[in-house]
Amino acid sequence: MKVTVFGIGYVGLVQAAVLAEVGHDVMCIDVDEKKVENLKKGIIPIYEPGLTPLVTKNYEEGRLHFSTDARSGVEHGQMQFIAVGTPPDEDGSADLKYVTAVARTIAQYMTDHKVVIDKSTVPVGTADKVRTVMLETLKQRDLDVPFDVVSNPEFLKEGAAVADCMRPERIVIGTDSEAVVDLLRELYEPFNRNHDRMIMMDIRSAELTKYAANCMLATKISFMNEISNLAERLGADVEKVRQGIGSDSRIGYHFIYPGCGYGGSCFPKDVQALIRTAEHIGYAPRLLQAVEDVNESQKYKLPEFVVRQYGENLEGKTFALWGLSFKPNTDDMRAASSRVLLEELWRRGAKVQAFDPEAMNEAQRIYGHRDELMLMGTKEAALHNADALIICTEWQSFKAPDFVEIKNALRDPVIFDGRNLYDPERLEKRGFTYYAIGRGASIALS
Ligand code: UDX
Repeated sequence: MKVTVFGIGYVGLVQAAVLAEVGHDVMCIDVDEKKVENLKKGIIPIYEPGLTPLVTKNYEEGRLHFSTDARSGVEHGQMQFIAVGTPPDEDGSADLKYVTAVARTIAQYMTDHKVVIDKSTVPVGTADKVRTVMLETLKQRDLDVPFDVVSNPEFLKEGAAVADCMRPERIVIGTDSEAVVDLLRELYEPFNRNHDRMIMMDIRSAELTKYAANCMLATKISFMNEISNLAERLGADVEKVRQGIGSDSRIGYHFIYPGCGYGGSCFPKDVQALIRTAEHIGYAPRLLQAVEDVNESQKYKLPEFVVRQYGENLEGKTFALWGLSFKPNTDDMRAASSRVLLEELWRRGAKVQAFDPEAMNEAQRIYGHRDELMLMGTKEAALHNADALIICTEWQSFKAPDFVEIKNALRDPVIFDGRNLYDPERLEKRGFTYYAIGRGASIALS
């Protein structure tokens, strides 16, 4: 099938590459000329395992095209994906200006039936807005061309985006048209073998499904972080509690890891956007607000531990930091807890020697060159002459380090661990002061 994807961001590029991989003829359109030129040369704007070879192969084999020419994009596909960004505006609502701009563009150039598919995470009611904008534009052209608008939210995880897209757990389709159901079944047929993963519903329910999924996951994390704060004060160990409750199949082990707060492009933005949506319709979303509040304060856990150890004034101190990205296997630092930590440490006069396996360029881009941030080539180099070690991201390579080397390199044998990577008892036996999240026995009582 011929497919056009507007917006070559995370969602758009991965979806386009995966659709091309199974044989569809996919054209990607973006306003960013540099991005388009780079993609043609095989330079991918994001770090995502498996994406570069997939994009390069399908581009070279002629099933994946990149262009800035919106008109040819509209002409190309009957399927028109909208996968542009929906950044939060000042009050945290999702800003739809890029989505409506694409809708206008499609209506401006279309001459035959199009299926317009909202892939971006958009507030409930967006499909109606897209439809209205397109009808207005067609009216201005004095044309009556048929089209359908579909909500088809994406559930991919950064770091596992290609795999999630190739083997989706579910394909949610919101539409009011039977004909569209057939077209989408054909489009997704290669991903829907063995058992039917397609869940059909009305458009508004599909739009809400995406927010509900992300907000439920964020709720699980904030709930566990709240329990971890209780455990810390009660002298209990949240890691034991996590295993204890995870073993109940109704609760499950997934997404109940306490830590220094969730980040990324989805959870913080989507929880806030659903809060705003609720407020706009006169409903006060108490639970969602609590999820957001717990997460905000959780991001201050590590700086609080540092102050507990070293006092309010951190002038003259240098900290080794392992992990800058909001989670492992990505270079993404959007809403990462490392950013709250860095900024708190700097505010108190400390310097940081940081290492991350992938996010060094991103840190450079965000913070530029400054004396208080030294980006080091290895995790060992980051330790050298630092006062203590802080861990923000659970990269695999941080899980079994050489503790003798850490102790020799640091001025003080102190580790602040925002991801509960180590066994507190073992670290104490090795002579470390070990701060972790919600492991009361090791810190609160000492
Ligand atoms: C998320 C959703 O998982 C995905 O379905 C949706 O489409 C987009 O948003 P992503 O943001 O890529 O994906 O990352 P995810 O793996 O979900 O992690 C989000 C954050 O939660 C990370 O900061 C992670 O460290 C944190 N987290 C996750 C926890 O603190 N504890 C957990 O138990 C799980």
